Amino acid sequence: MARRRGARRRRDLARDRRGHRARRSRDLEAFERGEDAEHIFLLQEDIDAGQVDLDRLFTFGDALFGHEFRPSDGWGDADAVLPLARVHDGARGGLDTFSCAGCHSVGGVDGAGSATQNAFFDGDGDAVGSALVRNAPAAIGLGVVQALAAEMTTDLQLARDAALATAAETSARVSITLESKGVAFGTIEVDPDGTIDAAGLEGIDADLVVKPFGWKGTIARLRRVVENAARLHFGVQSHVLAVDHETAPDPDRLGDGPDWYDPDGDGHARELEEGMLTAAAVYLAMLESPQILPPSDPGLRDRWARGRAGFDAIGCADCHRTELVLLGSTWREAPDTTSGPAVELNLLRDGEQPKSGARVQLFSDLKRHDMGAELADPRPESGSAIAPSVFLTRPLWGLAETPPYLHDGRAATIPEAIVAHGGEAAASRDAFVALSPEAQADVHIFLLSLSRAPRLRVPL
Ligand code: HEC
Ligand code: HEC
Repeated sequence: MARRRGARRRRDLARDRRGHRARRSRDLEAFERGEDAEHIFLLQEDIDAGQVDLDRLFTFGDALFGHEFRPSDGWGDADAVLPLARVHDGARGGLDTFSCAGCHSVGGVDGAGSATQNAFFDGDGDAVGSALVRNAPAAIGLGVVQALAAEMTTDLQLARDAALATAAETSARVSITLESKGVAFGTIEVDPDGTIDAAGLEGIDADLVVKPFGWKGTIARLRRVVENAARLHFGVQSHVLAVDHETAPDPDRLGDGPDWYDPDGDGHARELEEGMLTAAAVYLAMLESPQILPPSDPGLRDRWARGRAGFDAIGCADCHRTELVLLGSTWREAPDTTSGPAVELNLLRDGEQPKSGARVQLFSDLKRHDMGAELADPRPESGSAIAPSVFLTRPLWGLAETPPYLHDGRAATIPEAIVAHGGEAAASRDAFVALSPEAQADVHIFLLSLSRAPRLRVPL
């Protein structure tokens, strides 16, 4: 009986995949615990064996995103003193909540976070003032973002490798300018013995990996974002994180559990299986992309067009690049630890609609910039070399649906966010401030068209 009910429930979930997450998680609460965990537990071996198609991976990822983690699924860790705290204690999370959807809900499913959903990272576990405040960005459209960044990484690393080869062949120092998709990342100088001087780099780490996730731009793959989020917010730790993928143990590992499969030593082995990370990454890659929805009223449409031109004219698009062109739409998701075939999907076609085209209207250069002292964090992130005032150009697609704005959510409105720009963006901000109120409103109207497709929500 329970099995039949379980099967029916799974079918219902597949049909009713989206839009009713709150109701569903309530249902799941009421449902048998084993069933609920079964919805999110997935072995990589089964994916490697070709037993889980894209639709099912999406369903698993969706369930994982909405899942309310509990101690019975490894929520918390052996070191947890207080069960819940808004302010994180260093690399150990609050733990601050129970589900991904609990923070990513503004503007629709998989959306952004409100001010009250802000996370307080890297603090002393107690005082808000000790932490780095972060507002949750929306989690849609991110497959193409990762893919764009990966293509840029390939360009930059190929250029570096070619310079290394030339320097070795010619026995002379080589200096090159790094650029990809029209975005310049400064210069490197390469010596014949293979030494690289990276002092001239701009907006990117010395490894030349474009990392498009997080306000500081520190993570390159969605898989790692999910792994980090689960550890930080729920104390749910993958054993993959416990062992660095190639070399030393990960400094972010929680605890030194007796078993490789239970690093946080809370008695729950395999809290976050590789297969679950694959499902979550594939799910995120299959979500809809934000859309530009210009106003239909003819008068407003003219103002929108003027605002769009104004955005370029005052230098906003120097950083918020209107579009980046995606060359390859094939996504391959493979874990670090098994050798099975990668899951493949087409980023511009598979999964939820609507999608972006290959000309991705992202409004970012995926590069870091110095935004000045006013916007800076109070201190650097522990263990990070990125200055407190330096942030990744936040993609503006979907902007209308993601208030509040800026890394700590300090700006309630779009104009407030613009005026808070400083540092490298000071000239552009000044140009905005110098516009007539009417022209400022035009830019605002344009930015309000960066949105996401309206969805019919059927009450059940
Ligand atoms: C306590 C609130 C909170 C919870 C819970 C949470 N997130 Fe987040 N999420 C954030 C914040 C804040 C950021 C920005 C982090 C940063 O800049 O370092 C973020 C960033 C992200 C990003 C990167 C977005 C981007 O464009 O940079 C993704 C993807 C994401 N979260 C997915 C998840 C998933 C999956 C889960 C569940 C495992 C989850 N989040 C749980 C608050 C939360
Ligand atoms: C030098 C690069 C640069 C320029 C020029 C620039 N921005 Fe930004 N912008 C950024 C960065 C970096 C952030 C993220 C700041 C943070 O994390 O707090 C950002 C954030 C924003 C945000 C908030 C996004 C969100 O989701 O919270 C808006 C809105 C915005 N910019 C609009 C503009 C407009 C309009 C202009 C032109 C007047 C402009 N920007 C010029 C780099 C730039």
